[in-house]
Amino acid sequence: MSSTLDFEITLSQQPTPHAERERILADPGWGQHFTDHMITIRYAAGRGWYDARLEPYGPISLDPATQVFHYAQEIFEGTKAYAQPDGSVVTFRPEANAARFNRSARRMAMPEIPEELFVRSLELLVGTDRDWVPRTEGYSLYLRPFMIATTRALGVQQPSQEYLFMVIASPSGLYYPRGVRPVTVWASQEYTRAAPGGTGEAKCGGNYAASFLAQAEALRNGCDQVVWLDATEHRWVEEVGSMNLMFVYGSGPDARLLTPALTGTLLPGVTRDSLLKLAPDLGIPVEEGRIGIDQWQAACASGEITEVFGCGTAAIISPVGGVKGPGREWTIGDGEPGPVSMRLREELIGIQYGTRPDPYGWVHKIV
Ligand code: COI
Repeated sequence: MSSTLDFEITLSQQPTPHAERERILADPGWGQHFTDHMITIRYAAGRGWYDARLEPYGPISLDPATQVFHYAQEIFEGTKAYAQPDGSVVTFRPEANAARFNRSARRMAMPEIPEELFVRSLELLVGTDRDWVPRTEGYSLYLRPFMIATTRALGVQQPSQEYLFMVIASPSGLYYPRGVRPVTVWASQEYTRAAPGGTGEAKCGGNYAASFLAQAEALRNGCDQVVWLDATEHRWVEEVGSMNLMFVYGSGPDARLLTPALTGTLLPGVTRDSLLKLAPDLGIPVEEGRIGIDQWQAACASGEITEVFGCGTAAIISPVGGVKGPGREWTIGDGEPGPVSMRLREELIGIQYGTRPDPYGWVHKIV
């Protein structure tokens, strides 16, 4: 798909004062502050994408009968812009996010957006708000493209006929403020994230809404995150929190990775995909397969599994130190971040922050 849409640009008349911005960038937290501008593009059936704008960041006004409020026809993406040692700014695999956005759109009966327009939206916003890209190691400008159904109608016979695509940007520190401290995870038997034929592989808001109760259950049980098991047998491990999972078998030169295969109920993570390409080049073979919760416990007891980590755009790599579930509990390795997890983390972060070569062409220079 190609697009010739031009953006109408309206710069903020009241941008955040320099000193205030610097104060925010020094300690941004995660997803709490937003830059001075945003992207909006509209869509109407029969007309296609139109009215592309870069405008000052601010509230949007919608009729209470707007479809998204009632039937949650909404999708989103998450990606980041990184400051490089030479002062330039890059994004990481934005076309992978564009492709996934369109896969999510198809599942949710929403229109696809030309990849070129999606990427151009990110470039325009990051280029305009480049002073908001944190320079502190480990920090980034988190980009949140999303699309909502905007037809004003309560009928559910057909999907919305109109949509709004937006991109907002948030200077962000570490997703877990305590850094790579390992998380403990709760294997929920009561709740599932996704069922065959459902929306598990789409990045739609509803998947996350449905996760909050299970997350609360995990916290009640003294854990940080939920481990999601498959909906049919409550046995096969799928994801952790909002991240994909990777299991390290063996150690040293014998280390290898296993990650649950994309069965349709898992989110196809860009970080997951990047690690599947990166690890073999570092001499760590990878396999997409399946692992049951009992097997996981047994392989930790026998020492076969040495490390486990979650991976996603927000936290990159987040080691898992221990697992709990109804009537069971075990530790992974010595409960500390393992060398394979940390090496992969460093290599990937090195590519993103421009301190290591990028043989894959993943970084995409913006300014
Ligand atoms: C990610 O790991 O990037 C996520 O999906 C988390 C995000 C929903 C905050």
